[in-house]
Amino acid sequence: MNIRQIINSKGKRKLSMVTAYSYFQAKMAEEAGIDMMLVGDSYGNTILGYENTLPVTMEEMLIAVSAVRRGAPNTFVIADMPFLSYQVSEEKAIENAGRFIKVGANAVKLEGGAEVAGLVKKLVDFGIPVMGHLGLTPQHVNVIGGYRVQGKTDKSVKRLLEGVKLLEEAGVFAIVLELVVEGIAKKLTEETSVPTIGIGAGRYCDGQVLVWHDLLGINTEFSPRFVKRYANLRKDIVDALKKYNEEVKNGEFPGPENVFESGGFDE
Ligand code: KIV
Repeated sequence: MNIRQIINSKGKRKLSMVTAYSYFQAKMAEEAGIDMMLVGDSYGNTILGYENTLPVTMEEMLIAVSAVRRGAPNTFVIADMPFLSYQVSEEKAIENAGRFIKVGANAVKLEGGAEVAGLVKKLVDFGIPVMGHLGLTPQHVNVIGGYRVQGKTDKSVKRLLEGVKLLEEAGVFAIVLELVVEGIAKKLTEETSVPTIGIGAGRYCDGQVLVWHDLLGINTEFSPRFVKRYANLRKDIVDALKKYNEEVKNGEFPGPENVFESGGFDE
């Protein structure tokens, strides 16, 4: 899918997006026919074991984005701009966004509404497609005071509506809506001409995104109601590792079929 197809899908068909951070994840998601891959800064929680997304650096994200591009050469890849990679100055933001494009991203994503609209316009004017992100914006966790559902008060709804309008005017090609009351996400989706991609934002968004580790049951410590587990990989992997551990210790592995009787690698 290219950016035109993503924009034109609005009202015609739903879009699927999943996070990916490595070569084989990307290969598998492309094989599954997923429309878009987000190299999210959730990389911090899921891969690096940080408590939240705030410590993630450009260098860490660049390695992940280039690996995902190599694994999924034909899928639309979005790079999440980490905390402080776009807030400090416009120059730094443009340079960092450009670095993601140079290693193979098709677009970047950044969090916020009114406060980033000017920057979004600049990036788009310079040829860097931008995906917006409204609702719960995890890089603001310390200001929000936790991971709370958004759109519950008139003030919050007003801010969301304003954010969607400003981002659309600035030229985003899509907007992630995270943890938003379903009725409000529906209204936001109806009010904008760009596709909305929901996570914990109900059934009426134009597409959905889930974090790899939640969708596949790898992170079982986190089970909010908006996550649907399509597999139980943590159990499958731990069971496989237990079996390997046992077989190494009791001498079952390696078996005769796993050894080189003569010649080894040269044959
Ligand atoms: O970093 C991430 O994975 C995200 C999604 C939750 C949208 O931003």
